[in-house]
Amino acid sequence: MIEQNNFILSMENIIKIFPGVTALDDVTFRAEFGEIHALVGENGAGKSTLMKVLAGINSPDSGSINLDSEIVEIGSPGKAQSLGISMIHQELALIPYLTVGQNIYLGREPHRKIKTFIDWKKLYKQAKVQLSRLDMDIDPKTLVVNIPIAQQQMVEVAKALSINAKIIVMDEPTSALTDKETKILFRVMRHLKDQGITILYISHRLEEIFEIADRVTVLRDGFHISTSIISDISSDDIVKMMVGRELGDLYPKKNVPQNECVLEVKGLSSGKLLNNISFHLNKGEVLGISGLIGAGRTELARALFGIDTFDHGEIFINGDSVRIRSPREAISMGLGFLTEDRKEQGLFLGMSVRENITISVLKEFSSFGFPFFSKLKTLTEKFIKQMNIRTPNIHQKVKNLSGGNQQKVLIARWLNLNPRVLILDEPTRGIDVGAKAEIYTLIDRLAGDGVGIIMISSELPEIIGISDRVIVIREGSITGEFSREELSQDKIMQCAATGGIDES
Ligand SMILES: Nc1ncnc2c1ncn2[C@@H]1O[C@H](COP(=O)(O)OP(=O)(O)OP(=O)(O)O)[C@@H](O)[C@H]1O
Ligand SMILES: [Mg+2]
Repeated sequence: MIEQNNFILSMENIIKIFPGVTALDDVTFRAEFGEIHALVGENGAGKSTLMKVLAGINSPDSGSINLDSEIVEIGSPGKAQSLGISMIHQELALIPYLTVGQNIYLGREPHRKIKTFIDWKKLYKQAKVQLSRLDMDIDPKTLVVNIPIAQQQMVEVAKALSINAKIIVMDEPTSALTDKETKILFRVMRHLKDQGITILYISHRLEEIFEIADRVTVLRDGFHISTSIISDISSDDIVKMMVGRELGDLYPKKNVPQNECVLEVKGLSSGKLLNNISFHLNKGEVLGISGLIGAGRTELARALFGIDTFDHGEIFINGDSVRIRSPREAISMGLGFLTEDRKEQGLFLGMSVRENITISVLKEFSSFGFPFFSKLKTLTEKFIKQMNIRTPNIHQKVKNLSGGNQQKVLIARWLNLNPRVLILDEPTRGIDVGAKAEIYTLIDRLAGDGVGIIMISSELPEIIGISDRVIVIREGSITGEFSREELSQDKIMQCAATGGIDES
């Protein structure tokens, strides 16, 4: 018999059905006072849904919730807040054109004696205090739109702190954070835990879970699979439970002969961002680009793809010097670019999986403006199958897919264009191990088909696992180049941080 009293929260037999999907199938989930409880599972397993039920965003079809041993009806996000439940969402929900302070106290602004007036001085003073608890030295009067995503994430944490939450849900808070910021967040989490606050923590990074969590719950396909004390379980056990099968080799690698150069860049420079960058990419090669966040990797990709202009340099495709002045021209020359930001990338959230995947080829598959729906359907179904996109059907709205499956939809859209060179910027961010393995397999297959792939990634094991060759960028310059045989985490780190290998 389980002692109910140890639990601050117990969600019992929760069922949540969306049209065509049982997102939660009789899930029971309990959390103790002052624990950090990790929630893991593949994309679409039901993690966010379970937490949204707790935060009053999704109403369950059945089941009950106990908070502090009392049955509660949560019903709305406002009610959840008043019960001391705060959720930091996977897709950040701050309002870009309000200040940091306004965002923290949105709807709860301190007022002056005359009720109608907001006490701005007090608001910014309090905001400053919350931010300093997180070691964040930013002016709370800054507009959110002007701070990087990582700091926005911390603002969300500050917001959660400011409501004096008893339970804080963090849905993949570190997917956009640097190592340093992650460390700060973990320190904050431990500190909150010491104050008796319970943290429910969703992450796809298993190393993090072993570092920070006390217990871990695995969900799969809407079912509760297990809840374990972290020291009783291994990473392999967790992965097995998550995917329900043994994962094969995470990084498959075909040996593709590489003797034909598809893309060459000579002396690319752009202001202070890029400095005399030269490299080549062969047909069928996976070229990893490594470096710290802000080193210039994304800027390089944007310049290649014609989004940003550059001052000097020349680009050759299949040996011909080309000028790429816009993404449209880049596409017509056979380039594809999956950007790191899913939202900016132009996922049409309110449109269906089919519409999102086939928008890139709509013209080709239409006659006099009328699309050939059956062809579009066949094409979409091909990708759903090939990439294992979890969706009840091709008409599902993309906003209802889990994050990882949204990413696969975007990759499918690029693949439709049969690119010669595909640039992938952090393609597996926020993606579970199973889906990652699928994406790696896909990359390997594309390389096998002769596509040249540029893979920008901050995850060293990934870049080492998948690349034929890696170049390291630091402060806009190339500081190292390694063949697959020469690669190591140490070498990459050294070049990324200090600008070269110390030979002494
Ligand atoms: N509003 C919605 N309408 C329809 N289906 C939904 C909705 N929200 C979620 N789903 C579906 O419910 C299932 C669970 O989704 P959920 O977002 O909880 O997954 P997740 O475990 O958080 O995945 P990820 O790791 O990708 O974030 C998925 O199949 C998803 O497509
Ligand atoms: Mg989720």
